[in-house]
Amino acid sequence: MRLCVIGCGYVGLVTGACLAEAGHEVFCTDIDTDRIAKLNTGGVPIYERHLEEVLHSARKGGRISFTSDAGQAIRAAKAIFICVGTPPKENGEADLSAIDHCARQIATEADGPKLVIEKSTVPARTGLELTRALSAYSRSSNLRFRVASNPEFLREGTAVDDFFHPDRIVVGVEEESAAVDLREIYGPILDRRFHCPTHNGTCPAEQRAELLVTTINSAELIKHASNSFLALKISYANVIADLCERLGGDVEEVTHAMGLDPRIGGRFLKAGLGFGGFCFPKDIQAFIHLAASVGVDFDILKAVERVNKERIDRFLEKVRKALWVVKGKHIALLGLAFKADTDDVRFAPALEVLKRLIAEGAVVHATDPEAMSRTKLLFPQALYHDDAYEALQGADAALVCTEWDAFKKLDWERAGKVMSRKLVLDGRNLYSPAAMRALGFEYHSFGRSSASAVSASY
Ligand code: UDX
Repeated sequence: MRLCVIGCGYVGLVTGACLAEAGHEVFCTDIDTDRIAKLNTGGVPIYERHLEEVLHSARKGGRISFTSDAGQAIRAAKAIFICVGTPPKENGEADLSAIDHCARQIATEADGPKLVIEKSTVPARTGLELTRALSAYSRSSNLRFRVASNPEFLREGTAVDDFFHPDRIVVGVEEESAAVDLREIYGPILDRRFHCPTHNGTCPAEQRAELLVTTINSAELIKHASNSFLALKISYANVIADLCERLGGDVEEVTHAMGLDPRIGGRFLKAGLGFGGFCFPKDIQAFIHLAASVGVDFDILKAVERVNKERIDRFLEKVRKALWVVKGKHIALLGLAFKADTDDVRFAPALEVLKRLIAEGAVVHATDPEAMSRTKLLFPQALYHDDAYEALQGADAALVCTEWDAFKKLDWERAGKVMSRKLVLDGRNLYSPAAMRALGFEYHSFGRSSASAVSASY
C-alpha cells in the first residue's frame, strides 16, 4: 500500500522504515527541512539500533522517500500515519498543536479519500477531535477521511525489533473498512512476510503478534494506561527499595521473588534512579490531566510521579553523605542517556544529577557511549570523555546513572587504581555489593545491603 508518514522523529522514522522494509511504498515528510535534507543524503538523524540498515535496505529497494513537500506525500498515499510530537504544556496537558497542524495539512492538500492514523501518543477523545478538524478544514465536502488510532509501544533502543515483533498491534477504528486497511498494512508483520533485521530472517516461532481491534477511545486509553502502569511498577519497586534500606532487606531479592509470580512479572521492577525519557514522564502527566478534566482524581499516578522525582534527591543525599563536601570534588558521571542503547537525554535522571552537581560546585567528568554530543550542548560546564577510565582518572567518586552494558562490564580493579578515592554510588544497581566491597570499594546503591546475593540485570 502507498503510505505517508508525517513526522520524521524516532517513531515516524522507525514506522516508515519498517513498513517500507515490510513491502509498502512509504512517503515521509517533516517540517524540519534540515532533517529531510539529511535523510535525502543517506543520513540517519537519530541513533536507534538496526534503523540504519533497515533504512538503507528500503532506500535501495526504492520503497521509501523523504520530502519537505507535505502535500506531495499526502496526495501520494492511501493511508497517512501522524507521528508528530505531543509534548507536555506547563500544566502537564498534552500539546496537540502539531496534530491540529497535520489535520489542516491533510484536509487542504488531499485530493482523494484518506485513512488518517494517529500514531502519536494522544489523550482519549483526540480521534473525535481529529475527525471534526479534518472535516472543518476541508475545502471539499466530497472528500472522505476515515480516522483510526494505532498506538505505538516502541521502546527506544529496541524500537525496530519491537516493530517487527510486537506483543500486540492495537487498531482503534469506528468503521470496519479502516480495520481491514490496517490489517493489510500490518499483514507482512502478522504473517511474518518480511526480512527480519534482528534475527536475520529466522524469528523465534513464539513471537507471533496479535491484532486487536477496538474503538478509537479504547486504543488511545490503552497507550496511556500501559505506559502509566509500567511507570507505576518502577515507582513501586523504588518505594520497596526505600523500605529495604530502612528495614534491612534487599530490594533485588524482594523484587526477584515478586516477579516470579506470573500475575506480577519481573520486568520493570528495577529500583534505582527512576524513569526518564520522552514517554513515561509526559504520558503520566497527560493521563493525570485527562482524568482530572473528566472529574477523576488519579491519585495513584500523582504518587508515581512524586516518588520518581524524589529518586534524584535520594541519590544526591547518598552522594553528600559519602563525600561530605561536594564542592570542588572530581566526580566521574557514568551515563547520561535516560536509559541504555539510546542517545536520548530528554528527561534523563542523569542530566538532573549533572545539573545539581554542577550547581553544588563539583567538577564533573562525564562519559556515555552515545549521549555526549547532545549533553555537551546543554551542559558545556562539564568535561566529557570517550573513555570511561579517563573520566575515572583522579575521581573522588564514580556515579553510575545509566544501565549501559559497557558500564556493567567495567573493570573496577583497573578503575580503582586510577581513582583518587575508591567510592562508587550506583544509581542503577548494576554491581554486586559484596564483589565491590571485596575490591576495596565503598559502594552505595538503592535498597541493598552489602551482603546482597542477587546481582542485578535489566
Ligand atoms: C516506553 C515504553 O516502554 C514503550 O512501550 C512506549 O511506547 C514508550 O515509552 P521508552 O521510553 O523507550 O519506552 O523506555 P523504557 O525502556 O520503557 O524505560 C523507561 C525508563 O524507565 C528508563 O529511564 C529506564 O531506565 C527506567 N526503568 C525501566 C527503570 O528505572 N526500572 C525498570 O525496571 C525499567
